[in-house]
Amino acid sequence: MKVRKAVIPAAGLGTRMLPITSVVAKELLPVCGRPVIEHVVREAVKAGIEEIILVISEGKEDVSNYFKPNKQLESTLLKAGKHNELRELEEIWNLATITVVYQNEQLGLGHAVLCAKEAVGDEPFAVLLGDSIIQTDNCESFTAKLVSALDTYGKSVVGVQEVEECLIHKYGIFEGIEEQQGVFNGSKLIEKPTEDETNSNLAFCARYVFNPGIFYFLEQTNAGRNNEIQLTDAMQQLLESEGLNGVKLEGDRYDIGDSNGLLLANLSLTDFKCE
Ligand code: UTP
Repeated sequence: MKVRKAVIPAAGLGTRMLPITSVVAKELLPVCGRPVIEHVVREAVKAGIEEIILVISEGKEDVSNYFKPNKQLESTLLKAGKHNELRELEEIWNLATITVVYQNEQLGLGHAVLCAKEAVGDEPFAVLLGDSIIQTDNCESFTAKLVSALDTYGKSVVGVQEVEECLIHKYGIFEGIEEQQGVFNGSKLIEKPTEDETNSNLAFCARYVFNPGIFYFLEQTNAGRNNEIQLTDAMQQLLESEGLNGVKLEGDRYDIGDSNGLLLANLSLTDFKCE
């Protein structure tokens, strides 16, 4: 079944980026002159996604407004003869169908995805974290690679990336056996383990493609660490029920959820060769 929809959670508080996030969503901060969320939406669109389901919270409406036609600006630009600028905006407004869903309380990533259940319906869908940009070595959309893995193997897929051992405790970690080059059959997932709790250095890297069965497990998942509904817990249940593959990222992931990540993304992507 074609993957037509992508959920982009962008409802988080962004406390690591305060004070700026008290007034501007981190997903709107610029990387190479474009808001992070635009890079993320473009990656999804390149994977054949037609509908983007943006999960936002009250006060973060600018994240979705960015993709909405702005009649007033349109007529001002027309009157000023700024046709190129208008064309550029229209291209953004037409990237995909944008559906907005609210997460009324920030109960974690798993909860944010669950908020999109009705909008997704009974079909496979991608999840791209709204605060992470991925650049693959071959300039192809990483989401497209995950979509193609779901198509080939039928199982839900998580994007994984090798990380240094000393950083393992910061990530959701994927354990599994490599079956095809770069494709791993998952055996266990652990959220932010200590170094001796796992032998794996494969960390989730902000991209997923799920069969709709994930919603059943999200609904069964109780709040865990930090009173949040953890996506990893539901993914572990999904893995035990119908299997889960990991697809390795050959490239870089930029987490702009903290200021170092934002700076690094801007320095590294200045000549964004994939645009
Ligand atoms: P983070 O894990 O970075 O959490 O979210 P956060 O709350 O945004 O940031 P900090 O930790 O307070 O600094 C990863 C992605 O998931 C979304 C965020 O908007 C971000 O794009 N998210 C997170 C939600 O949509 N809802 C949540 O409850 C948590």
